[in-house]
Amino acid sequence: MCHSPLGAATTTAGALALLFLLPLASAAAAGGGTAAKATPNITALMSKGGCKAFASLLDKSPDALSAFESAVSGGVTAFCPTDEAVRGFMPSYRNLSADGKASLLLFHAVPVYYTLRGLKSSNGPMNTLATDGAASNYNLTVQNAGDQVTLRTPAADAPARVRSTVYDRDPVAIYAVDAVLEPVELFDPVADAPTPAPAPAPALAPRSAKRTRHQRRRGADAPGPAAADASPADQRKDYKKNAAAPCRTRWLATAAAAIAVAAALAA
Ligand SMILES: *[C@@H]1O[C@H](CO)[C@@H](O)[C@H](O)[C@H]1NC(C)=O
Ligand SMILES: *[C@@H]1O[C@H](CO)[C@@H](O)[C@H](O)[C@H]1NC(C)=O
Ligand SMILES: *[C@@H]1O[C@H](CO)[C@@H](O)[C@H](O)[C@H]1NC(C)=O
Repeated sequence: MCHSPLGAATTTAGALALLFLLPLASAAAAGGGTAAKATPNITALMSKGGCKAFASLLDKSPDALSAFESAVSGGVTAFCPTDEAVRGFMPSYRNLSADGKASLLLFHAVPVYYTLRGLKSSNGPMNTLATDGAASNYNLTVQNAGDQVTLRTPAADAPARVRSTVYDRDPVAIYAVDAVLEPVELFDPVADAPTPAPAPAPALAPRSAKRTRHQRRRGADAPGPAAADASPADQRKDYKKNAAAPCRTRWLATAAAAIAVAAALAA
């Protein structure tokens, strides 16, 4: 008599466990199946997420588009410049050769899937889809300051900032950025300042707000992001000297973006 309630309880517990575990297992199987089957339409997602102009450039560059598409299965993180950023950049874009255009577009994605959290804990140089061995470095530098993810190249006087998440589902992430990323392979560096050094130690990455102070204290020991931010007088001088039409366009685009941000914040 005493055994049967106990036995029943055990059976019930077992049944309950099955009830909980079975749906989880089948959900996992279904999720894996869907991810492998349905390839997201990257340009359609970008268009919907405020990057219509960039998506349209990608659609018009078959080489770049197919490289984006074939990168998807291995994981990809794309940074699409907003329509405003692309508009300001168009005169420079039109000046590029077909190869240059494709490389510039491919420079806007890295062959690794990063969640926003993953990006925030990454600092340092990253290869892009445009990277092709040592001869074509096409790398960009991810730098985090507090909660802000920025992307830097020596060809731009200001880093591009990640503004929003357009799409994020393993293995594809798309983030909108407020500037077109300019690889040094296609655009002259703004000054002969060195490329920002890779993050000194991974342990510092999540606390990048404090890093600047650290580096300032350590001085020559750790040049890099902090030093590049300082924009010394000679760097400015060089910049002025080189301030031809493309640079002015870049400045205008940056100023316009800053005004837009200020307006958005005020609203
Ligand atoms: C992706 O979407 C765009 C429209 O946003 C369409 O022109 C294109 O054909 C689609 N590509 C694929 C592979 O479905
Ligand atoms: C385009 O190229 C021409 C010729 O090299 C140059 O004079 C002009 O400044 C360039 N324009 C832009 C916007 O880069
Ligand atoms: C990034 O690219 C620059 C310019 O081509 C190159 O000098 C540098 O060594 C590259 N850095 C890494 C970490 O690949």
